[in-house]
Amino acid sequence: MPFPSSSSRTQRHKLILAGTMVVLVVLVSAVLLAVFIPGRKGTPGSEVLQWKGQGTTKQLQEIVLGRCHNYIAIVNPELRDKDCLKIWELFQNAFMYKHPCRATEEDFQPLMDLARQSIPCNKSLFWSKTKDLVHRYTKTNRDFLTLEDTLLGYMADGLSWCGDPSSPGVNYESCPEWTECENNPSSMYWKMSSKMFAEAACGITQVMLNGSIEAGAFINNSIFGSVEVVNLNPNKVSKMQIWLMQDIDGPQK
Ligand SMILES: *[C@@H]1O[C@H](CO)[C@@H](O)[C@H](O)[C@H]1NC(C)=O
Ligand SMILES: *[C@@H]1O[C@H](CO)[C@@H](O)[C@H](O)[C@H]1NC(C)=O
Ligand SMILES: *[C@@H]1O[C@H](CO)[C@@H](O)[C@H](O)[C@H]1NC(C)=O
Repeated sequence: MPFPSSSSRTQRHKLILAGTMVVLVVLVSAVLLAVFIPGRKGTPGSEVLQWKGQGTTKQLQEIVLGRCHNYIAIVNPELRDKDCLKIWELFQNAFMYKHPCRATEEDFQPLMDLARQSIPCNKSLFWSKTKDLVHRYTKTNRDFLTLEDTLLGYMADGLSWCGDPSSPGVNYESCPEWTECENNPSSMYWKMSSKMFAEAACGITQVMLNGSIEAGAFINNSIFGSVEVVNLNPNKVSKMQIWLMQDIDGPQK
């Protein structure tokens, strides 16, 4: 008559104990995963690329969409037929899940085409190193428009954005600076929108330069010097008036 020996009973106890422990370990792991996965994005173990510049602005989508709607409804209702949702879609398609040093003109061309607008003659105002002053001026004086008073400039002013090949496709931690790689998504955006803004200029144009810059008010490799000036159409632009602004207490160059 087989009778469970004491040793086989011990073995059964061991098996039950081992089984219980496996269940416990699985449970604890599940709890730990549930607690830590949502925070994984910012932890050192994450795989997003690291750069020296500011990461993508939080709530980028809400800001861009909100600014777009504000622009077409209130700032410039002539553009009321633009489709802000489509504009945002093309914007994110241009950089999401892409390496932020390999932005191309092709990435941004559909966005540029959709957001394009005409600029009335005699209204274009360019600037270099006078950002605060020039925008204080255009805010109170409607005679002139800067790039930041157009839809493309208005939507993106002061924002930062770049993609990353790994999920979620956007890098909120850091983005490449111009010195790290020239072909980053925001340089591409500003170069292309500045080029379009310059090409659209006609009649008499204005530029506000900073007369207190040590190296001289005209800066060779600035957007104004390297992109805008060279893309003015000499058949449409008759004259450029230069406003040289000196700081009241600063050096006069
Ligand atoms: C632009 O300015 C010039 C010179 O003052 C003037 O002749 C021309 O009519 C202006 N164009 C527009 C569209 O206002
Ligand atoms: C000119 O540039 C200097 C140095 O960058 C800056 O401090 C100053 O505010 C600028 N002046 C204007 C009018 O923007
Ligand atoms: C402008 O750039 C060219 C080359 O890109 C350089 O040779 C020249 O010295 C620069 N001019 C100024 C005023 O910096």
